[in-house]
Amino acid sequence: MTKHVPPVDQVTEFRSDILAGLQAPRKTISSKWLYDDVGSHLFEAITELDSYYPTRTELGLLEKEARNFGRLPGARGAMVELGSGSSRKTNLLLDAFPDLSVYMPVDISANHLKDAAERVRRAYPSLAVIPVAADFTQPLGKLPLLPELPVLVFFPGSTIGNFEKADAIVLLRSVQEAMPGATMIVGVDRPKEEHILLEAYDDPAGVTAAFNLNLLQRINRDLAGTFDLERFAHRAVWNAPESRIEMHLESLADQSVQIGEAVVSFQEGETIHTENSHKYDETAFSEIANRSGWRILDEHRDAKSWFSVYVLQAV
Ligand code: SAH
Ligand code: AVI
Repeated sequence: MTKHVPPVDQVTEFRSDILAGLQAPRKTISSKWLYDDVGSHLFEAITELDSYYPTRTELGLLEKEARNFGRLPGARGAMVELGSGSSRKTNLLLDAFPDLSVYMPVDISANHLKDAAERVRRAYPSLAVIPVAADFTQPLGKLPLLPELPVLVFFPGSTIGNFEKADAIVLLRSVQEAMPGATMIVGVDRPKEEHILLEAYDDPAGVTAAFNLNLLQRINRDLAGTFDLERFAHRAVWNAPESRIEMHLESLADQSVQIGEAVVSFQEGETIHTENSHKYDETAFSEIANRSGWRILDEHRDAKSWFSVYVLQAV
């Protein structure tokens, strides 16, 4: 693993976000902060779990459709991947897109991105691999793309589900505006029986708990925090009205924690809300797509209707 050295400007933003989130009446932290070096590796471990069905289900769909996707105009131009992580799913597409000229993975987890980009470079030497370490919720206008290349946006993993509906619309709209005329392949996890969802987000081996609790360790490491990880517990809850799994960190005692000079108090049972993972059916997702300037060209779904891969066209 590469040594953990967060850039100074990211630490500044991390500190102000964490303090604002923990000083709010309902404590919350953006899920984008789950992904430091350790968090990215823990997420990879989650994707290997039997209980975490999304990765293998989406991989199956991509494997089946990759050759079809190779007919999209962007498959002969530039592929921009949002939240690329380990780029593991990307290989399936790269194998089926021999004429692709540029691969631009965008991810907030800078070291993980660099390692993944290096692996892609070694495996596909004729491809121009241009990693962009960035928060894709910030203006995307500055991506170094050539205007004449058709663009295919790849947004797998159901990462779109980690946004509130209104924020998902803002994000997809900003992608459409930054890459006019683009096509997008986007993975979306679907609603299913509650016990399947709860096991996927609270696995018996405790890997998801470690992923969630690492956020407190990251605060201790990067912001001189004093969180005692024994005094917080991972909780996954199904919020049916919002059709989402929520991850929380529950305080197991009345306690105060220091973050640098600041002090944050917790009551026993109080939680920090750390992630939403929305499960969208076709009606809910088509509303998001339509309201953000995208038209659904196609939907591919597994036999159990657990996961969808949509092909969208910017309108
Ligand atoms: N695409 C991979 C990884 C999904 S995990 C897969 O399908 O398995 C979500 C990824 O999105 C992580 O790599 C995380 O670092 C990245 N990410 C989360 N929020 C982000 C943001 N706001 N900007 C850029 N990347 C983000
Ligand atoms: C990246 N994202 C789509 C994952 C999800 O399923 O919401 C993150 C995750 N959280 C817990 N397990 C996996």
